[in-house]
Amino acid sequence: MKIVIPGGTGQVGTILNHALTAAGHEVVVLTRGPVRGREVRWDGETLGPWAEEIDGSDIVINLAGRSVSCRYTPANLQAMMDSRVHSTRIVGEAIAAAARPPRVWLQMSTATVYSHRFDAPNDEATGVLGGTEPGVPGYWAYSVEIAKAWEQAQERAENPHTRKVAMRSAMVMSPDRGGVFDVLLRLARLGLGGPVAGGAQYVSWIHDRDFVRAVEFLIDRDDLAGPVNLAAPVPLPQRMFMHVLRAAWGIPVGLPATKWMAGLGAFALRSDTELLLKSRRVVPGRLLEAGFSFGYAQWPEAARDLVRRVRGGSDFTG
Ligand SMILES: NC(=O)c1ccc[n+]([C@@H]2O[C@H](COP(=O)([O-])OP(=O)(O)OC[C@H]3O[C@@H](n4cnc5c(N)ncnc54)[C@H](OP(=O)(O)O)[C@@H]3O)[C@@H](O)[C@H]2O)c1
Repeated sequence: MKIVIPGGTGQVGTILNHALTAAGHEVVVLTRGPVRGREVRWDGETLGPWAEEIDGSDIVINLAGRSVSCRYTPANLQAMMDSRVHSTRIVGEAIAAAARPPRVWLQMSTATVYSHRFDAPNDEATGVLGGTEPGVPGYWAYSVEIAKAWEQAQERAENPHTRKVAMRSAMVMSPDRGGVFDVLLRLARLGLGGPVAGGAQYVSWIHDRDFVRAVEFLIDRDDLAGPVNLAAPVPLPQRMFMHVLRAAWGIPVGLPATKWMAGLGAFALRSDTELLLKSRRVVPGRLLEAGFSFGYAQWPEAARDLVRRVRGGSDFTG
């Protein structure tokens, strides 16, 4: 198949590109700064010659969006919103204009669309969307607004011949440098992998190999459209999540951090406390119902595999 991946140069795109190329597909990446062979320039905002790559392709997987690992300043939040909504809208326009549109458009979304909650897991049918939770910083609602606007941009696109799926993905755990797992492991190795602000907030996650398998599953299954959660079936509280990670690497202690210290840490990492403090309790209702089976359903086995691959020096190819 010919698979076009707008925004495919980042963490998730690199994982997908490698796996789909290895499976024998032709992968074309749309990027604002092409350097390699099958990378094609686009601006994420306007139609251009890049749209010819989409015409006649089989699958589009749109990952484009300004990184969320940054301080949530008004300017950064606006850039997070605009880059997602504009790029999704223009991908929809390119598909609408294609003489031979792709049969599937997988659009990245995020598990952050669900509410900050502890009491019950969010699946697609019964989950509660976020934005109105009491007692959380006002700007948290804005990341939910971004996620909703992102999905709406895909929903509103008029693409009658293309099946559309919004992938509400949890954090993709992979051993490559600079990914989420790498950052968490570094913190743990510095002795900072303890509970943050009590650690009751849930962490939803998905192993990189399961993420790739879920994407392949969604490509194959003609009966699946609309929002689909991509998350392992067992999210766990942050203190347990980090405890398991420390055990997998062999780190005995993890210093607890208060909300105040988390603020300082996030500032030092040029990131935001929402990424540490929001309870993301998200489960893969539709994937399980459709018969998808996870290779890494439980965090301990996933963490051991990731640690083994980091120690073996193998990247996402390992
Ligand atoms: N990583 C995760 O665990 C995870 C989980 C859930 C959802 N997501 C979402 O999935 C997507 C991919 O994640 P990722 O971790 O691979 O992100 P990433 O490493 O930040 O890559 C995103 C890509 O988007 C492109 N981009 C950035 N700003 C842009 C703009 N203004 N206009 C057009 N393109 C822009 C960049 O490509 P160029 O610079 O080459 O143009 C970049 O490589 C993101 O939207 C992210 O929010 C990620």
